[in-house]
Amino acid sequence: MGRTPIIAGNWKMYKTQVPAVDLAQGIVDLLGDDASVTDAVEAIVCPTFVVLKQVDNVIEFDNSRLKLGAQDVYWETEGAFTGEISAAMLADIGCSHCIVGHSERREHFGETDEGVNRKVKALFEAKMTPIMCCGETRETREAGETESFVRNQIRAGLEGLTADQATALVIAYEPIWAIGTGLTPTPEAANDVCRSIRATVGAMFGPAAAQELRVLYGGSAKPENIALFLAEPDIDGALVGGASLVADSFYSMIKTAKDYA
Ligand code: PGA
Repeated sequence: MGRTPIIAGNWKMYKTQVPAVDLAQGIVDLLGDDASVTDAVEAIVCPTFVVLKQVDNVIEFDNSRLKLGAQDVYWETEGAFTGEISAAMLADIGCSHCIVGHSERREHFGETDEGVNRKVKALFEAKMTPIMCCGETRETREAGETESFVRNQIRAGLEGLTADQATALVIAYEPIWAIGTGLTPTPEAANDVCRSIRATVGAMFGPAAAQELRVLYGGSAKPENIALFLAEPDIDGALVGGASLVADSFYSMIKTAKDYA
């Protein structure tokens, strides 16, 4: 126990500069300097690449403990890779975290488990924390293959890491059929998969890594249901899409997580 909860907002392809700065400022203002919240919960926002610096400026100006993450990264350190962004570039503008392997990237942009693994390693090289996503389709769930499917994603994504890296990594379990749909698994069903993820990490890297690893739930998480997921023993927070785009609702989830710290 003793795992610090995480509430991470995935802004996806929303918010141009002014709305992004407004949203970041709204969250920073609500967090204020109430250390009882920011000591207890890690709050992270993941805007699009092009507004990362502006959001970082908001965070820095207010000396806020809100953390900054990106939504993707390329694994090479530099070179002729038109359109790509390296982990060092993200770290340089203030990112501490980065989502990798989101199902939307796997589905629409051909991301593979092998690519996810390379991105995870590149982020660790840059001293950043990956938030690695996994999760099954509706068909996989209906076939009763969720746990074996997710276990394979974890094994491939974490292949070759050190135990320390596996411990520091954050895993987000996001059933694809729950993302942006308003549907969710029951908290117990989500916890079953999160427990199996923890066990997989334990089998690969030992019991201490399993014990300390933070596993988030994602998929239509919102202020009204977040407490149910946080109450589960193997769920340590949430990766939030839609409900992270409004400062009040994102902050309300952070405050709820404080009660489960
Ligand atoms: P959602 O998205 O909260 O809008 O379902 C979650 C995610 O895709 O990370």
